[in-house]
Amino acid sequence: MKLGTIKPGTIYGVGLGPGSQDLMSVRADRLIRQASHIAYFRKKGRTGHARSIVEGMVALDAIELPMEYPVTTEIPFDDPRYNELLAAFYERSVARLTEIADAGGDVVVLCEGDPFFYGSFMHLYTRLQGRVPVSVVPGITGMSAAWTATGQPVTWGDDIMTVLMGTLPEETLVEHMAKTDALVVMKIGRNLDKIRRALTRAGREEEAWLIEYAAMPRERILPFSDAGDSAPYFSILVVHGNGRRP
Ligand SMILES: C[S@@+](CC[C@H](N)C(=O)[O-])C[C@H]1O[C@@H](n2cnc3c(N)ncnc32)[C@H](O)[C@@H]1O
Repeated sequence: MKLGTIKPGTIYGVGLGPGSQDLMSVRADRLIRQASHIAYFRKKGRTGHARSIVEGMVALDAIELPMEYPVTTEIPFDDPRYNELLAAFYERSVARLTEIADAGGDVVVLCEGDPFFYGSFMHLYTRLQGRVPVSVVPGITGMSAAWTATGQPVTWGDDIMTVLMGTLPEETLVEHMAKTDALVVMKIGRNLDKIRRALTRAGREEEAWLIEYAAMPRERILPFSDAGDSAPYFSILVVHGNGRRP
C-alpha cells in the first residue's frame, strides 16, 4: 500500500438467523459485538426487527445507520413507481456505506435469516460489488426454524421441496403446490386468503401448517386450516414431504 492511501473497510452482510440470539453463528456474534458501524433496514418510525434481534449485543459507542424503506406496502410492487423508489433508496444506502468503507471503516449490515435468501441485503450487495470489499455471513433461515418448530422432518429421500412467495399469482401457487412433495410458503401476511384458495385447489390444505414467529418468544404453530383471516409478517406455511425412507 502506498503511503497516505487508506485501506478500505469491509461491508459485512451478516445473517442473524430466525430471531433468537443463540441461533446466530459464532462469526455473526463476533462481528456484531465488535462492530464500529451497524446498518439495518427498517420501516419508518419502527425499531426494525433486525435491530431488535441484536439488542444488548451492539457496543454502546457503535454508530448506527438505520436504512428506512421509502415504501413497504403503500404502493403495489408491480407499480413502476415502487421499483424506482426502491432503486433510488438502495443507491442512497450504498452511497452511505461506500463513504464509510472508503474512509477505512467496516460496516455490519444486519440481515434477518440468511442474507442471500429473499432478503433486502442482496440489493445492496450487487451494487457494492467491485466498489468496496464485501463479505457475507450465512444464517439459519426462517423456514428452517419453522419446520423445526413443527417437530417433524420436512424432506425425506428424494422429496422435491418448493419455496413459494405468497405474493405470487394464485394460478402460479396452485401449479407449484400441486406438483411438489414438501412445500414452504413465505410472505403470507395479506396474501393469506389467496394462499388458502390455492392450497384447496391443489388439494393440499389438510397437510399444511402455519408457523408464526418461528424461534421467537411469540412462536405459534397451528394447522393452516385453523388460521384466521390474516397472519403476521413473520409467518411461514410448511407442508412436510413424505418420501422414501428405510
Ligand atoms: C424478506 S423474507 C426474508 C427471509 C430471510 N432472509 C430468511 O432467510 O428467512 C421475509 C419472510 O421470511 C419469513 N420469515 C423469516 N423469518 C421468519 C421467522 N422467524 N418466523 C416466521 N417467518 C419468518 C416470513 O415469511 C417473512 O414474510
